[in-house]
Amino acid sequence: MALSQERLGKYNPEKPTENRITDIGPRHFWDFFPPVIQKNYGKWLYHDILEPGIMVHVSETGDKVFTVRCGGARFMTAENIREICDIADKYCDGYVRFTTRNNIEFMVTSYEKLQALKQDLLSRKYITGSYKYPIGGTGAGVTNIVHTQGYIHCHTPATDASSMVKALMDELMDYFTGMTLPAHVRISVACCLNMCGAVHCSDIALLGIHRKPPIVDDNIDSVCEIPLAIAACPVGALSPGKTEDGRKTIKVKEERCMFCGNCYTMCPALPIADKLGDGVAVLAGGKISNRISEPKFSKVIVPWLPNNFPRFPEVVATVKKIIEVYASEARKYERIGDWAERIGWEKFFEKCDLPFTEHLIDDYRLAYDTYRTSTQFKYTRAAWEVSKAAGGIDE
Ligand code: HEM
Ligand code: HEM
Ligand code: SF4
Ligand code: SF4
Repeated sequence: MALSQERLGKYNPEKPTENRITDIGPRHFWDFFPPVIQKNYGKWLYHDILEPGIMVHVSETGDKVFTVRCGGARFMTAENIREICDIADKYCDGYVRFTTRNNIEFMVTSYEKLQALKQDLLSRKYITGSYKYPIGGTGAGVTNIVHTQGYIHCHTPATDASSMVKALMDELMDYFTGMTLPAHVRISVACCLNMCGAVHCSDIALLGIHRKPPIVDDNIDSVCEIPLAIAACPVGALSPGKTEDGRKTIKVKEERCMFCGNCYTMCPALPIADKLGDGVAVLAGGKISNRISEPKFSKVIVPWLPNNFPRFPEVVATVKKIIEVYASEARKYERIGDWAERIGWEKFFEKCDLPFTEHLIDDYRLAYDTYRTSTQFKYTRAAWEVSKAAGGIDE
């Protein structure tokens, strides 16, 4: 067995220096495996998605594991987690797992147990009638949206994250409980450029952006070190200054600032959040998978949408439109980025009714060398927009 099981249980908190292991980290993952997963380690033959949200894994020993995936949430109350644990106790010998996309997975070892578990999950509803544990999130659909802290827990957001995800998933629920799309659609939300949400390779990414330089708040003293805040700026827009009454402060060269918010992360006396300036950029076409084409970064497709709290109608409408056009036009197995590349990004803008502006040029500057050298390329309305925005030839 390749696992270093011999290390298990060596750490004794009563005698922390005995048999000392320095890279302890979290407990060894082996400790968390249900017995059937331990027993069949290295022996799995294949898996199948039986229906949306329900998978079976089959081992060479004949053992089977049925998994039910339910939509969870990034922020769960203790009460909610207790209920999940109760369900796990009742059907899964106390084992439950959370996926990287905050889905909840219950695993059982027989088809009968699976049916009972499924029935129980679908019977649990909120007072408003919506499912507490909607089953889905597998295969060619929209799975749970990964998102960042938002206003609830972070100091630098340009938008909120959990409320936006709620508004989006309310609209996209049928794509969660069904597998009706050409391929997976992974959506992520990050509420600032720090991108805890790793939105750079998602099929659709929503990114909170600031659009104004930081304001210097001289009234906050002795909180941060000025050299540290100055060093935080990646474009050298900050320098030491003096207030009128002779105190040390920071000067901002506004024309250099790219609104990244890095300085505010370091120093609360440089607030950058702004009610009107802040908003949401939409990116699309990123993926990690190697299928059909190489992994790719998401490209900016909408530079800014307003922060229309709490339901973000503009953001929701844009995402829905992209998914609907993709659903009806892409070939089976094509991710959004594969589809957009096949038809040409200019066509993508046209089909999704998205205006092309000069703010998008950074990602599309090489268009002349790429999309337009193919014999299939035709000048369309969207193509002329690209040309104009880039300062190229006019219609
Ligand atoms: C026993 C092995 C593995 C298990 C149980 C596993 C499980 C998962 C799960 C549950 C997800 C989706 C999370 C969600 O949507 O909620 C996922 C996504 C993913 N996994 Fe794994 N994984 C395994 C091995 C691997 C390996 C070996 C790789 C790469 C070499 C990999 C690469 C990925 C990638 C790239 C995604 C995201 C796919 C996308 O969004 O396009 N996984 N994995
Ligand atoms: C060495 C054994 C395993 C291999 C080679 C393996 C391989 C894979 C592969 C290639 C996928 C992606 C399938 C696709 O996109 O259609 C996948 C998906 C998945 N596997 Fe496994 N797997 C293994 C063991 C396990 C085990 C033990 C579990 C948990 C009991 C597991 C849970 C999952 C889940 C939940 C997904 C779905 C991910 C998603 O659709 O988002 N896998 N597995
Ligand atoms: S993405 Fe930015 S604002 Fe959002 S949680 Fe991370 S650091 Fe905070
Ligand atoms: S927001 Fe970014 S670019 Fe602007 S001053 Fe702060 S660190 Fe520099």
